[in-house]
Amino acid sequence: MGQDSNETKTKRKRGGRSKEKKSTEKVVTTEEHKKQQQQQGNGSNPSKKKKKSQEFCPFGNYKNYYGYRISNDMDEDPRLKVLKKEWFQGKDCLDIGCNSGVMTIHIAKKFGCRSILGVDIDSSLIEVARWRLRNFIRTQNQGEKKTAGADGSKEQSLSLSDGSSAETKDLFQVVSFQKENFVQTRNLDENRYDTILCLSVTKRVHLNWGDDGLISLFSKIWRLLNPGGIFVMEPQPWKSYEKNRRVSETTAMNYRNIVLRPEHFQNILLDKIGFRTVEDLTSSLSGVSKGFDRQVLAFQK
Ligand SMILES: C[S@@+](CC[C@H](N)C(=O)[O-])C[C@H]1O[C@@H](n2cnc3c(N)ncnc32)[C@H](O)[C@@H]1O
Repeated sequence: MGQDSNETKTKRKRGGRSKEKKSTEKVVTTEEHKKQQQQQGNGSNPSKKKKKSQEFCPFGNYKNYYGYRISNDMDEDPRLKVLKKEWFQGKDCLDIGCNSGVMTIHIAKKFGCRSILGVDIDSSLIEVARWRLRNFIRTQNQGEKKTAGADGSKEQSLSLSDGSSAETKDLFQVVSFQKENFVQTRNLDENRYDTILCLSVTKRVHLNWGDDGLISLFSKIWRLLNPGGIFVMEPQPWKSYEKNRRVSETTAMNYRNIVLRPEHFQNILLDKIGFRTVEDLTSSLSGVSKGFDRQVLAFQK
């Protein structure tokens, strides 16, 4: 099941199938969206508000994202197989929109990063990511092959398929998580990275902050990369925007005004932002879950 079908399911619970099909489908009001954005900002988490954030997920901040993305028969996230060790080994890395930290931790462990920082707009996901890191290190140190999640979800019982590249005891020094809205924050301005990941995040930035937000995202990534650095991007296709356009009035409005389409991103990054080369990793990507067969591109600064 893909993330979009998850969202559709939630909508059905709220409004039923017939309402969903009408073009007048209720959008989340600006007031509701603002409340939610405030929640993302101050980290407050009363249970009622939490329920709302789980229902709408305007930033793609799904709580069980990897439960949908990685099926039981997979030994690891298929994207890990197309990433190159040399982009990460001994390098300083940034994972934008890290969600609950599954990819961030696995990249650190598999490839032996010098450091990797995962940032996400959703403070509750950052808390889960920190919990996951502690749990991962504790269980690995106990010599267990599989980690059992506190909530029993399958996303937490994933283990790495290869041998260790980084000593698990060092992972505390290597991996960190920080709550940031990457589009707006200035907190990372002084940092520089060798490799930056932005996997399945562009659609949410685009819908919430429009074309300007997308260009800010790309420009900031460029600024934060060292010369020769790598930017790995997994953009969602345009057809998938439609399903998420009504999560707020802002997204509905931005959707109508978007001019830059995902199929233009490659040229924008090469011609306007200034990346030197691009490599399409998609042909070697196999075994992805239905709905997640997206392009993965690696740009070099
Ligand atoms: C669909 S998930 C992808 C998770 C992960 N990158 C992966 O592909 O495995 C998108 C994530 O991006 C985060 N996100 C969306 N907009 C963001 C922003 N402006 N700054 C930081 N994180 C953001 C969401 O909260 C969500 O966790």
